[in-house]
Formats: sequence, structure tokens, C-alpha cells
Amino acid sequence: MKFIDKSDVLQLLKKYIGSTELVKATLGSYKGEEADLKNIYLKPVRIKNTYQLSFTYRYARRDTVKNYDLLLAEEMVISFCEAEDFHSVSLFLQQENIFFQLHPKKGWSYRQEPVANCCVPNLEHNKQKERKITDTKSPYLHELRLTDADGKVYKNAQDKWKQINHYIEILSSTLAELPQKDGLRIVDMGAGKGYLTFALHDYLSQQSNKMVETVGVEFRKDLVDLCNAIASKAALSGLRFVEGTIEAYQPAVPMDVLIALHACDTATDDAIFKGIQHQADLIVVAPCCHKQVRRELEHHKAKNELNFMTRHGIFMERHAEMLTDSIRALLLEYYGYQTKVVEFVSDAHTPKNVLIIGLRKKINPERQKEIQTKLNSMKMYFGLESHYLERLLKEAALLDD
Ligand SMILES: C[S@@+](CC[C@H](N)C(=O)[O-])C[C@H]1O[C@@H](n2cnc3c(N)ncnc32)[C@H](O)[C@@H]1O
Repeated sequence: MKFIDKSDVLQLLKKYIGSTELVKATLGSYKGEEADLKNIYLKPVRIKNTYQLSFTYRYARRDTVKNYDLLLAEEMVISFCEAEDFHSVSLFLQQENIFFQLHPKKGWSYRQEPVANCCVPNLEHNKQKERKITDTKSPYLHELRLTDADGKVYKNAQDKWKQINHYIEILSSTLAELPQKDGLRIVDMGAGKGYLTFALHDYLSQQSNKMVETVGVEFRKDLVDLCNAIASKAALSGLRFVEGTIEAYQPAVPMDVLIALHACDTATDDAIFKGIQHQADLIVVAPCCHKQVRRELEHHKAKNELNFMTRHGIFMERHAEMLTDSIRALLLEYYGYQTKVVEFVSDAHTPKNVLIIGLRKKINPERQKEIQTKLNSMKMYFGLESHYLERLLKEAALLDD
């Protein structure tokens, strides 16, 4: 191990930090006073045609990114090292890598290694996000007024476009966990204008060599007619929309995936119920308003330690939302669904942004007992007589009283 003077370390940092040689750098082994700071990662970026250094401050639970011009960046790194806030510094240069390490009592060590393949830094600041839907020229996107005739996403459709892609991204990894079958049958309840229904169907049809069959259930006839016309114009086989309510829908064949996005209030429960009843392998819902539980909470006004919070209308709203959806997740778990709740990018028209995803696994009778006990004590505590989904399951004799 070679040791060098601190002044030489600073000299080399001065030479390289602001130079075009720098590919990236890492400051590590933080000993300074800033709570939870672990590392700083540096990389050159070009912002509005000026060359800057981007600093990613990595804390225990979050990252913060700041960009500085070269002179300031250089000064900052030098002052960090002068103060010995970081005890390790790695410089990744185009032709070589240099590693400095501060050892107690011994001072700074220096190690240098050549780079096998010369690496030129990527200066793009906002790397284009890779989207799941790569073919923006698919006719259905144009028919849905998301893209123009050349496949360019309209400015006013950017939020929807982001939402669709995020949705497909979330679902594609979960769908990969489904049991292998010859085909995939999807029912999308409360399909609306079908943006997400079309996108998922098209994506899956292109990704897998399986037969994908998708049914969109919607009670508005105008939307059903519109979506069927677009599906046929875009020659999307296996996709159709039917007029009717979620409550009354009876699938002709078993469904593999049940989806209900932003179906109002208890329509989400109706959809989950259908999924459980028909043993869908995957249930995905994005709940909308939570009126049923909210009404009951207001009506019974149970006294508990959370009163200080729920006396504020807006917190009561959020509380009802969390309670409703936690019970949904718990009930899914009761039927052996491995359940997760994730954030879903909303678009301007749908501020609700929670997605409950249940993947059917094995029923665990011990866990079922625990869940029933939990449900009963929770309802008592919150003053909730019943949850609509629980009621549906009891009426169908799928859940004991
Ligand atoms: C807010 S939109 C959401 C559309 C789409 N799922 C989305 O997320 O973009 C809700 C749709 O569900 C339909 N809907 C609500 N309750 C329903 C029910 N019980 N049966 C059938 N459709 C329902 C409404 O007509 C509406 O088109």
C-alpha cells in the first residue's frame, strides 16, 4: 500500500474533479456531523449546455440530488477532504481509477489501476425514462386521443401516458409470478374509457405467445360501444367490452386476473368479491372513494385514542380510506392472497393513487383465525359495524359470522 501526503491528495482532487477526465466519483466512509449521510456520488452532467457536477447525497433512507458548477463542486470536495469528513474517495477517470483511503494514524493511502475499456461519461441529465409501451404508433392510442397520427404523445395526455406505463410496469413483474397456463383471461371491471384495459391487453398480447383474452365490464353503454369500436378498428383480437354491472357479472370461463381501477366506493368491494369467489390468481384494485366506511365511522363515533386526529374532516377522510383498504387487504389475505399495497402514479383526473395487489397462494387456517380475531377487534375499536366486502363474503357463506 502506498501512502501519500494529504496535500498531494488535495492536489489530485483539484486536478481531476472538474476535469473532462472524470467519469464519476464516490465519497465514502462519512465521519462528519450530518445525520444519516452515508455517501456522496458525483457525476458530470450537462444542463442547458453547461457542464456541471451532480452530487447524489445518499442518506440512510433517501437520496438528495444537487447540481453544482465545476468550481464550486471542486471547492466542496476539497473542503470535505480537508476536514476529513470522508475517509474514502474513489475517482473513476476515463483512463484510470484512483482510490484514496484515510487510515487512522497512518494517513492517506493511494491506489491506482488502469481502466481496460476507456469509459466516456454520459452527460445526459434527464435520461429519457424507458417506457413499457414502446410502439406509440399503435392505432388504439391514436383512437383514444393519446397520440397524434404520427404516434407522438399529445402534451395534454402526458399524465395519462405516464400513468399507463407505470401501471404496466407494476403489473408486468407481478404477472410473471402467475402459475403457467396456456392462456391468460383478464376481466377489467369498471373499465371506463379503457385506457388501461387496452394498454395492458396490447402489451401482454405482444409480450407473450399465450392467448390473451380481456373483457372490460362497464355499465355505461356509450363507453362500451366506443371501446368495442376502437378494439375492432385497431384489430385487437381477444379484447371486448360488455355492458353491465360488476355485481351482476358472471364470467363464462374462469378468470385468471381480476382488475378494478377507480371503481367508485363499494364497486371495488364487488370486484374483489368476484375475484375471490372465482378464485382469480391475481386481483388488482385501485380503490376510489371510501364512503361506506366513512359513513359508519361518522355514525358510530367510537371514542378511541385516535379522536385527536379524526376530529379533523380531512384526516377522517384519510383514516376511512386507510381503514377501508387495510380491511380489503386483510380479507384478501384471509383467502390466501399474498397482498401488497403500492403507490400508483395518478393522472390529473384520478387523484387516488393506491394499488392493492393480491396474488393467490395457499390458504393458511391459522392465519385465517388470526385475521378474524383482528377484524373483530378492529371493528369494535373503530366503531365499524361492518365492511361491505365482509358482508358480501358472509352473505355468500364464504366467511363465518
Ligand atoms: C373512474 S372510472 C375508471 C375507469 C378506468 N378503470 C380507469 O381507471 O381509467 C370508473 C368507471 O367504472 C364504472 N363503474 C362504476 N361502478 C360500476 C359498477 N358497479 N358496474 C360497472 N361499472 C361501474 C363507471 O361507469 C366508470 O366508467
